[in-house]
Amino acid sequence: MLNRITVVGAGNVGATAAQRLAEKQLARTVVLVDVIEGVPQGKGLDQWEAAPIEGFDTRVVGANDYGPAAGSEVVVVTAGIARKPGMSRDDLVRTNADIVQQVARQIKQHCPTAIVVVVSNPLDVMCWVTKAVTGFPRERVIGMAGVLDTARYRAFLAEALDVSVEDVQAMVLGGHGDTMVPLLAYTTVSGIPVTQLLDKAALAKIVERTRNGGAEIVSYLKTGSAYYAPSAAVTQMVEAIVLDKKRVLPCAAWLQGEYGLSGMYCGVPCKLGRRGLEQILEVKLSPEEQAALKKSAEAVKETMGAVSLADG
Ligand code: APR
Repeated sequence: MLNRITVVGAGNVGATAAQRLAEKQLARTVVLVDVIEGVPQGKGLDQWEAAPIEGFDTRVVGANDYGPAAGSEVVVVTAGIARKPGMSRDDLVRTNADIVQQVARQIKQHCPTAIVVVVSNPLDVMCWVTKAVTGFPRERVIGMAGVLDTARYRAFLAEALDVSVEDVQAMVLGGHGDTMVPLLAYTTVSGIPVTQLLDKAALAKIVERTRNGGAEIVSYLKTGSAYYAPSAAVTQMVEAIVLDKKRVLPCAAWLQGEYGLSGMYCGVPCKLGRRGLEQILEVKLSPEEQAALKKSAEAVKETMGAVSLADG
């Protein structure tokens, strides 16, 4: 168990993540930080009052400043505005880049040794903003996208095949957005390649639905975006880090030549442990997948171009 985990942004994703982290008792204290007065305090207290019923000892506290967050070993960044119907993730870029820069400055000052897991969208670009502003090494700034995309893909596959979600294993790489790259060769049902169980057309449909997974939820909710699955995904990453599990999960990582790409965040298979990003695994891709990954990375670079970083 860690001493302190901070979740910045006490909105839908942040508050639900705090609850999941507390219920798993991954730290003695979970701190919720938000700019809206009263909201993190109220949600934190409400969650803590659930502790005697749910049986967890993690204290959840809320604040509008980073004092209570000082020295956090892990920080989850969910601050920002959520996508509205008809808005692409990239429409969000400038607003959220400003917010994430402010947050990253505070993390650098108050939590200088933290491992930061970024959730704010557009994800790959917000990871870069966080890394640039904090100056943290890539091992300590990781993005949550692939775990969520993979979970959606696995859920749709389990539904189509009428099998347990537990038996569906998959990898989705690339940027978080319309250019994500599901790897069919690494999609299996208890080791059986999925291509033996579903025909091409059915698989293509599921891949397409996965690509639009975020937008599908937005179109239902109308005034917000997904948060149950995103908060579960970030909790799985934090758990892998806190418990030093060495889990291999698709995460957004800063690339330095892996997969022939460098100078951007992109979803790749990562080993997560107590030191954060401990390894990037380079798996064999088909020429089409390699090309799709490159295209995805180029889209991330293009969005990076829309952001100007203020000094430190
Ligand atoms: N510092 C801290 N919190 C902030 C800041 C800031 N500078 N600016 C905004 N926030 C807070 C808002 O006050 C709000 O409570 O971030 C919270 C965001 O919550 P929601 O609007 O409910 O959005 P949510 O659905 O949680 O999504 C958050 O995660 O999945 C991504 O695309 C999503 O970028 C979005 C983020």
